[in-house]
Amino acid sequence: MSSTPVKPPNEIHRAWWKESSVYQIWPASYKDSNDDGIGDIPGIVSKLDYIRDLGVDIVWLCPSYKSPQVDMGYDIADYYSIAEEYGTVADVEKLIQGCHERGMKLLMDLVVNHTSDQHDWFKKSRSSKDSEFRDWYVWRPPRYDENGNRQPPNNWVSHFQGSAWEFDEPTGEYYLHLYAVEQPDLNWENPAVRKAVHDIVRFWLDKGADGFRMDVINFISKDQGFPDAPNQDPDAIWQWGDRYYANGPRLHEYLQGIGKILKEYDAFSVGEMPFVKDTDEVLKAVRYDRNEINMIFNFEHVDIDHAPWGNKFKPGSWKLTDLKAFFERWQVFMYNNGGWNALYWENHDQPRSIDRYVNPPQALRPAAGKMLATVLALHAGSPFIYQGQEIGMGNVPIEWDMGEYKDIDCLNHWKGLLEHKPTDTEAQKIARQEYQKKSRDNARTPVQWSAEPNGGFTGPNVKPWMSVNPEYTRVNAADQVKDPQSLYHYWSEVLKLRKTYLDIFVYGNYKLVDRDNQEVYAYTRAYDTSQALVLANWTDNDLAWDAAAHNVDQVKEVLLDTYGTAGASRERFSGGQWTLRPYEAVVILLK
Ligand code: GLC
Ligand code: CA
Repeated sequence: MSSTPVKPPNEIHRAWWKESSVYQIWPASYKDSNDDGIGDIPGIVSKLDYIRDLGVDIVWLCPSYKSPQVDMGYDIADYYSIAEEYGTVADVEKLIQGCHERGMKLLMDLVVNHTSDQHDWFKKSRSSKDSEFRDWYVWRPPRYDENGNRQPPNNWVSHFQGSAWEFDEPTGEYYLHLYAVEQPDLNWENPAVRKAVHDIVRFWLDKGADGFRMDVINFISKDQGFPDAPNQDPDAIWQWGDRYYANGPRLHEYLQGIGKILKEYDAFSVGEMPFVKDTDEVLKAVRYDRNEINMIFNFEHVDIDHAPWGNKFKPGSWKLTDLKAFFERWQVFMYNNGGWNALYWENHDQPRSIDRYVNPPQALRPAAGKMLATVLALHAGSPFIYQGQEIGMGNVPIEWDMGEYKDIDCLNHWKGLLEHKPTDTEAQKIARQEYQKKSRDNARTPVQWSAEPNGGFTGPNVKPWMSVNPEYTRVNAADQVKDPQSLYHYWSEVLKLRKTYLDIFVYGNYKLVDRDNQEVYAYTRAYDTSQALVLANWTDNDLAWDAAAHNVDQVKEVLLDTYGTAGASRERFSGGQWTLRPYEAVVILLK
């Protein structure tokens, strides 16, 4: 099949950041160095060899700035200081240095759609209508309904439940908060705000940081009419206003403002972009010649199990072909149009991928983890691995009661349910099941370092800020580092393979194979006359697959196999009819 050479696009735009993979750290739950039960920066520094050995190029540090932690640091009270519980600016400098010494880079999290209500800017802004900071946030007068009752300026729902507007008594106006009440949105129309953000960006780049992950960056430009959102969910009072603030009118202008600085420093950037399904719109942000950002996180594949109307805590269903269709769309589009993809299954907002995308029997969890690693990392794009994913950490136990959940998103939902449907035990039961499947808490349990008490995250007699998932005796880093067959080592093999065959796996094209198959995900990557097949059995059965029927049976070499690349596996991939073991994934160089 590879006889027709796949010519790469005329210009390939090679870049170090395309070749990189990223490891994400959520500081509260990474490693506690001083036995106060909370992860911290020195704890991260102590694990840098472990991270380097995984084979990643970049470490992304989630928000570690001073914060009241209403939304675990995504509510920043001071962009220039580090939360006391995590350490100091000097500790971050050590972390940067430790990364650099090991040939890795460090990304900071840039959260500038909103601040904490404890930020000085907001305190001043709310103090008076005449404050020079008034216009740094989005203030609007109330509306009044036909009965003369005060109402918010529009009907937008907050991402964390309820109205997106909060009334502020002292000045009699509402302020906008797309997230928690304690996370007021900045007003990017104000040039002083943009300047302040540019200063923050420079400050951390000057400290040696190598770039940023940008929080909900596509929300920074809002339709200044602040119109009501159409009624989408008939059961809801407040409606999604995303069409008026996701990728709003001035987004690209604002991104270019930041992009200019990033370019000066040759910095890395990845933007979080919820709600955007329009590939052309994303392309405007990431095309190589736009100088905005390198890549974005899109949400299609992680919203796959949500009910309609952004209702994540209601059951939704999906098929493998849905997932494949999302990947195909973005993979092909970016390749053809000079853009780039960020690849991820997990992050601090998503449940654990083995549970979400596979949900295998216990004994097959490592196999499923390896399959997911293979499929993700050999797509075209920069792979992101979230802490604990490299050892296959799972969702919280179904037995956990609500007292174990900590996340504002989940807890606000629960509060709302108890308020509005206090006697509906069925709805409560379903919600509880959905929390165990989708709550952000699933990602936020402490990293399981060993089989010691508390999983080695903190001292044996310390009560960690969030309980350790009891699976730590079975799933932990110490065991996996020792075991060459572990998921941890498998991840490093996949990342190595991606670099060894850089042309194919980083710069090659992507083609979906056997589109309608609900049990197999197969794709080829090709560059010039070289071509590789990535083939994954998404079931817990042995599975027969007709490679000849898809014209990918001309095996040159088995490059990687989740069941090991020993001679025996080569035998199984000769001839046209192949058998795959449960959750087996294999990477094959074709003739
Ligand atoms: C992003 C973050 C999430 C946070 C929200 C508000 O989605 O990833 O953790 O709660 O933005 O900052
Ligand atoms: Ca600590």
